[in-house]
Amino acid sequence: MLKDLFMGLSQNQTLNSAAKKYGLKLGAQNVVAGTNIPETIESIKELNAHGISCTVDNLGEFVFNREEATAAKTQILGVIEAIHENGVDASISLKPSQLGLDIDQDFCEENLREIVSKASEYDIFVNFDMEDYGRLKPSFELLDHLSTTYKNVGTVIQAYFFEAEDYMKEHKDFRLRIVKGAYKESPAVAYQDKADIDENFVKLIEWHLLNGKFTSIATHDHHVINHVKKFVKDNNISYDKFEFQMLYGFRKDMQLELAKEGYNFTTYVPFGEDWYGYFMRRLAERPQNMNLIVKQVFNK
Ligand code: FDA
Repeated sequence: MLKDLFMGLSQNQTLNSAAKKYGLKLGAQNVVAGTNIPETIESIKELNAHGISCTVDNLGEFVFNREEATAAKTQILGVIEAIHENGVDASISLKPSQLGLDIDQDFCEENLREIVSKASEYDIFVNFDMEDYGRLKPSFELLDHLSTTYKNVGTVIQAYFFEAEDYMKEHKDFRLRIVKGAYKESPAVAYQDKADIDENFVKLIEWHLLNGKFTSIATHDHHVINHVKKFVKDNNISYDKFEFQMLYGFRKDMQLELAKEGYNFTTYVPFGEDWYGYFMRRLAERPQNMNLIVKQVFNK
């Protein structure tokens, strides 16, 4: 019930626009690193000081005109310059829909090409985040096109999709982030039961750890993390073949602990004014995240 409510709210464009005007509210500041690049670089430096790498997401959704997509591209190019100038340990995560996928795929590809090319000059990795099912195929097409020229690209495999295994095997030579999947999807294309999703998630992680290039295991689920720790030990998989990833502000103690234990660890660092949809999806995943809001209200 709550999941559906927050998922519905995440897609409400009126609320999304209103949220942009009013700045980080509702406790979003606990899970969004800042509204601008300098604030975000400071957050990255703090995480780097604990041996944690970062992947930076310039928040943005519902981009249906070229001006907004071009502005998002310019902002991401600014992030790349700032990463380089500050010498911080960080990569880029982006959403094709923010760069114009819903407007025109060729236009989106040109925007992505500019970003990936600039990042490649500085040896910065660019991850294409995966969105909902309607954008899955075109996003993989964009990745496939760009990867013929650039090697600093990778993407996400969402374990709830029936097609996840096929996409993963076709892209095993990419650096892949494996996740459970965050959007509401139809039973025609995706597992609906948590147990089925979890089972497929572990299956895909194991396969990619044994056969793939580099695996990013992106989860806050300690059952899965503990399973992976044992699996890599039992299979002699070296620590430089994989990393754990979590979102900024979530399970902070565990993030520090994993880094301290010597695992490669990356925190996904979202920033920007367009925080609303991202924040609502986090509430949909785990309504207990509401306590972030409650804390915010009472800690004034
Ligand atoms: P899940 O939410 O299933 O929780 C499992 C269990 O873990 C819980 O029952 C609880 O015991 C424990 N737990 C979870 N969160 C906790 C917390 N905060 N505190 C205490 N215990 C907690 N999705 C997508 O569709 N496309 C994408 O590109 C990405 N990218 C991405 C990057 C990164 C770095 C992450 C971490 C996640 C994504 N996701 C994503 C989101 C992903 O698909 C998924 O929706 C969320 O990570 C939630 O699932 P989890 O695996 O974290 O555990």
